[in-house]
Amino acid sequence: MCGIVGYVGPKQAAPFLLEGMRKLEYRGYDSAGIAVYNGKEITVDKCVGRLSSLEKKIEGHLPQGHLGIGHTRWATHGRPSDTNSHPHTDCHGDFVVVHNGIIENYLHIKERLLAKGHVFLSETDTEVVAHLVEEYYQGDFVAAVTKVLAEIQGSYSLVFMSRFDPDKIVCTKQDNPLVIGLGEGENFIASDIPAIINRTRRTFILSDGEMAVVTKDSVWVTNRMGVPVSKKVFEVHWDAEAAEKGGHDHFMIKEIIEQPKAFRDTMTARVAKDTNRITFDELKWTREDVAAVKKIMITACGTAYHAGLVAKYYIEQLARIPVEVDIASEFRYRNPLVDSSTLVIVISQSGETSDSLAAMKEAKRLGARTLAVTNVVGSSIAREADQVIYTWAGPEIAVASTKAYTTQLLVMLMLALYLAELRESLRADRLQSIVHELRELPQKAEKFLSNGQAVKTFAEQYGFNDDVFFIGRSIDYAVAMEGALKLKEISYIHAEAYAAGELKHGTLALIIEGVPVIALATQRDVYEKTLSNIKEVKARDAVVIGLAMEGDDQIEKYVDHTIFIPATDKYLAPILAVIPLQLLAYYAAVTRGCDVDKPRNLAKSVTVE
Ligand code: AGP
Repeated sequence: MCGIVGYVGPKQAAPFLLEGMRKLEYRGYDSAGIAVYNGKEITVDKCVGRLSSLEKKIEGHLPQGHLGIGHTRWATHGRPSDTNSHPHTDCHGDFVVVHNGIIENYLHIKERLLAKGHVFLSETDTEVVAHLVEEYYQGDFVAAVTKVLAEIQGSYSLVFMSRFDPDKIVCTKQDNPLVIGLGEGENFIASDIPAIINRTRRTFILSDGEMAVVTKDSVWVTNRMGVPVSKKVFEVHWDAEAAEKGGHDHFMIKEIIEQPKAFRDTMTARVAKDTNRITFDELKWTREDVAAVKKIMITACGTAYHAGLVAKYYIEQLARIPVEVDIASEFRYRNPLVDSSTLVIVISQSGETSDSLAAMKEAKRLGARTLAVTNVVGSSIAREADQVIYTWAGPEIAVASTKAYTTQLLVMLMLALYLAELRESLRADRLQSIVHELRELPQKAEKFLSNGQAVKTFAEQYGFNDDVFFIGRSIDYAVAMEGALKLKEISYIHAEAYAAGELKHGTLALIIEGVPVIALATQRDVYEKTLSNIKEVKARDAVVIGLAMEGDDQIEKYVDHTIFIPATDKYLAPILAVIPLQLLAYYAAVTRGCDVDKPRNLAKSVTVE
């Protein structure tokens, strides 16, 4: 989510920090900061905005020193601002830290430290880490960091400097990347390889729970138990552009593959570890507030609108509140029936989509309660809404939305469960079984992604067809719409999604020999009906690719090819089922030689009406 760099060696640290951060700006770009140690004091320079704002701020007086750390931020806790920017320090500026990830138990730690007199400047989860080092420091910097690591929970890569140790940087990671670059008499630290490959190609990657003490001449790595670990050094052969994409050809495939990690980040702190409860610390709703909501309206554009269609099923089925879903550009012009008993939810990856923002403003004008579900902290839609839930998917660069969509689904499912609990509309054992499946989701997504080859073969086989149809019923229909949008958006193939039962009312006329039909059949309660619709298209000699859950022993009898997703709860099925559709679109676009990350006529964030 954020970009991290570190330097220790004989040269000035600041130029490398800025150069490395420039290469990592794609990981975060709402604020930037560096801390440089000159042997006497640590200078911290940071500000909101892109890296260029920081460069302007320190132009002509770069901090001097041979030890330094830097950070480009993609906000999660606390809006983008000068004070929320990294690096963060303890009360006296003796310890500085930069962080990528989320500290789950920071509120609890912060309360304790506040009671002990620590003074906090920011709203971030990261700042508690600097104060904790201060709290534990008794003359041994590494020992203090070790104690901090035993206390914090969450996902992180963390890099520390101390005023008491002018020659070392200490770093560690859990569920977030951290790379050490080995130079001649100098060493580098980065969250990603692009930051360092101009300086060295000899690297190693820290594993979860490992801690490295880095000086200019040595890197000492230990595991959680303090036992030394020897690391295998590897030579990076990627060029700078490939390195930015994690060695992949496009951001889109990188972002598809990042989904299991995005799921973990989105659920962290929301799916309680020891109970089956869903918590949203960010929501300030009482049971009475929720009881006062008589109707929910979800409004959004494009992929986010498709997430809203799935969310309708979630909320109506689980929390038993009526939900309407509307395209934002329609909502604002149709004089919608909205009042103070309506909760209007605007879903938007960027938080800047003009139509969605206007819909949010219209909802407020009409007196509705408003909630934003967005990926960008401090975005316009987040600022406009009464309440905000962030999806924590990390920056999404490819125009085609992938991990933002699946994390929107995840947030909406957790929200439905949260509302269901407050409204007592769901049996405890059912809640328990869904939460159990939520915990399994990242591994299941990983399992499917590790075997994406089959989808690639389909895409290569059908990538040159002019028309492709997607069909499904209930939730599967909503996912089919997203599959069709992905395919048209990046491969320029004409793709349409239909509610499977609707085909016979007109569209069946288009089904002729050889037309590919992708049939989603993950939902048990409409399964037989879906099979009947598959038979309808098969009877017209369509080529049918069935998308079903493992354990389904019927589907193969009715279709030409089958893609199986790991078996899961019906509410989790959309999140897994869309992954093969994303891959299909991606490989079809690659096969057709399209500009995958920047499809023609489209922009990542549509800030015009
Ligand atoms: C997704 O693949 C699209 N590029 C597009 O439909 C997008 O979802 C839509 O423009 C809404 O964007 P937002 O989520 O940033 O509001």
